[in-house]
Amino acid sequence: MDAQTKLTFAIEEHGNPVPASERAERIADPGFGRVFTDHMAMVRWSKDKGWHDAKITARRPIEMDPASSVLHYAQEIFEGMKAYRLADGATALFRPEENARRFNRSATRMAMPELPEQLFLESIEKLVSIDREWIPTAEGGALYIRPFMFASEVFLGVRPAHEYLYLVIASSVGAYFKGGAKAISIWVSEDYTRAAPGGTGAAKCGGNYAASLVAQAQAIENGCDQVVFLDAAEHRWVEELGGMNLFFVMEDGSMVTPPLKGTILPGITRESILALARDEGIAVREEEYAIDQWRADAESGRLRETFACGTAAVVTPVGTVRSSKGDFTIGAGGTGQLTQRLRDRLVGIQRGEQADPHGWVKRL
Ligand code: COI
Repeated sequence: MDAQTKLTFAIEEHGNPVPASERAERIADPGFGRVFTDHMAMVRWSKDKGWHDAKITARRPIEMDPASSVLHYAQEIFEGMKAYRLADGATALFRPEENARRFNRSATRMAMPELPEQLFLESIEKLVSIDREWIPTAEGGALYIRPFMFASEVFLGVRPAHEYLYLVIASSVGAYFKGGAKAISIWVSEDYTRAAPGGTGAAKCGGNYAASLVAQAQAIENGCDQVVFLDAAEHRWVEELGGMNLFFVMEDGSMVTPPLKGTILPGITRESILALARDEGIAVREEEYAIDQWRADAESGRLRETFACGTAAVVTPVGTVRSSKGDFTIGAGGTGQLTQRLRDRLVGIQRGEQADPHGWVKRL
């Protein structure tokens, strides 16, 4: 273990924590991404010192020079994960090591320094422990944890920055979609793509999400909840939504999901669904699925269900798909049986209500 991995998160200051009664009010029906906890974790990196100055401190605005490199060249990555209150009252994380690994793969792609896995995990565990009272008690509530890193060097030259800031904030959340786990409608983007071969599609960087916003706005204009992107080369293969992976359930009970070829995000929920489906003996193929096939299969009844998945969205059924060629409905347009079963299984494990054969749940 080198000097850097021995860094530990000292508590710097508590600031003015929100009083318990006001906190209870804020977390009663938090929605998504608007209610924040009292603290944050923070570590600095510089070319000279490496990782240093790790702390847990009061959540507050960060001062930035207008020439901070991230504001110009978008060298930024992030993660999304949740802490849950288990049935027995304990607090737990779900597969946090996977987030640590993906964070470092994103860092490598964006020419940023890797964060030692132990530091990533400690930052999350300390923050969640100190702010655990912010986990909503209502059904479906969780603490959404957002680790992120950006180029903080004050410099306008175009090269990997020599200084970075890693931060973790946490937000009390309910369902990502207003309708809860109800089926969503999807708009097929023909004007825009999200990621090209050799690009940053597999990295969890802010730029990918920025690139999705105009297409997402078109989805809303067309009366849909979310946008689905096709591949950049042929505009033929279904890739993913703005921030969720997709699964297709066929009439023979098998499942298909687009393969990880560098243009879609390697979702941890996606990987967990693959494992849970295989546990049940379901044949799952990671293979390309064409938009025309999707429509044809939905219309013929060969396709029974489609669902989106991600940390924020959990498992969300897709009911209808709309494009310039017209709409099609999947199954009866609601929540399919397998979608519901896999959702229940995943949520049951995450909340400590079902057996955890893969050892995914990490109690704090
Ligand atoms: C997540 O699911 O954690 C994401 O980062 C996606 C975003 C839609 C919130």
